[in-house]
Amino acid sequence: MQVAHPDDGTAAAVRRGFAYASRGIAWLDNAATTQRPECVIAAMDDFLRHHNANVRRGVHRLAAEATAAYEGARAEVARFVGAGAAEEIVFTPGATAAIHLAVEGLVRPSLRPGDEVWVTLAEHHSNFLPWARAARETGAAFRVLPLRPDGRADLDAFRALATPGRARWLAATWVSNATGAANDPAALAEAAHGVGARLLLDASQGIAHAPLRVAGAGCDFAVFSAHKMYGPTGTGVLWGRRECLGAMQPVILGGEMVDRVEADGRAAWTDIPWRFEAGTPNAAGAVGLAAAIRWIGALPPGAGDHVRALAAAARRALAAIPGVTLRSAPDAASIVSFTLDGVHPHDVAQALDERGVAVRAGWLCAEPLLRTVVGGPVVRASFAPCNTAAEVAALADGVRAAKEAFAP
Ligand code: ALA
Repeated sequence: MQVAHPDDGTAAAVRRGFAYASRGIAWLDNAATTQRPECVIAAMDDFLRHHNANVRRGVHRLAAEATAAYEGARAEVARFVGAGAAEEIVFTPGATAAIHLAVEGLVRPSLRPGDEVWVTLAEHHSNFLPWARAARETGAAFRVLPLRPDGRADLDAFRALATPGRARWLAATWVSNATGAANDPAALAEAAHGVGARLLLDASQGIAHAPLRVAGAGCDFAVFSAHKMYGPTGTGVLWGRRECLGAMQPVILGGEMVDRVEADGRAAWTDIPWRFEAGTPNAAGAVGLAAAIRWIGALPPGAGDHVRALAAAARRALAAIPGVTLRSAPDAASIVSFTLDGVHPHDVAQALDERGVAVRAGWLCAEPLLRTVVGGPVVRASFAPCNTAAEVAALADGVRAAKEAFAP
């Protein structure tokens, strides 16, 4: 089957940088994790081979080189997301850890009975469960914001339901990992601030696809993971407004996050952001993230349009298969979720894998949303600039094969 597509030249140019492409696998699981381009692997390899040392601790030359690379990566991340300063960037092991740092370090200690914390129904478990626990254990109310029919957060409902002065936080995803519906970060921030609340934005699923200006949008916190933007696993970012970071307590205590420690146990924390990075940090991961940022910056100008065209082509091809129901937003930039009547999503994914097409199937760590809106698990294809129209065709062929093999 031929799927019309304007430009596979973009994919060809981008694919040259990925070793996995030689395996003939159609990687349509980019929302779970992207593949890493060679330049990211090379940057980490160079760091580990030639510049490795523990950062911010040694006085020898390798320590100076490693520290310069690590802090240089921080500055690059800050520029990439429009932070006010490099010191507003905290490196963490991932977006999940970043959310926990914000919730445990700032939110929970300040919550009182009667306060409200709001999350949207579209949140990934990692931006849902920490808030629910903090609310439960402090006597605050955990409130779940409904979605509009287009899958976006219903900010009119928020304005109507949130109690001014009592609503303390809104935790919201930029782009849903299950439906691809995209919220406007600035609109989220305006709604939160309108009732006296602060906004934590989960940027994990949007950051690879569109520019984010965290300070300009009015966010208070923003988090993301390197591995969903062509960087390494084990590396994430918490960006915070200076006043949020200044009021936040360190959650993990240990080496190099202090100015002074007394024998009786008293201690003085060092400056932001290092007070939040106790222990030996993942410097190679930060270097890889910086390389990924440079790689994204060097993508061909048509890369975003190419991804959107692939997602649109996938929607058309899948919708033409009787029994398929699309579950993602009709305008989602990179995510296409669907179900096939009478066939479990895992069986669909298995049939696709037999044809070399990798997708994710299941609850997508977004059970509140899928239980409420879909009533069950889904199959999700997610696209990146290295994908092709032929891979969209293989996806549709594989779903037809799954239907033949498994449909009642
Ligand atoms: N959160 C990732 C996903 O959506 C793993 O698949």
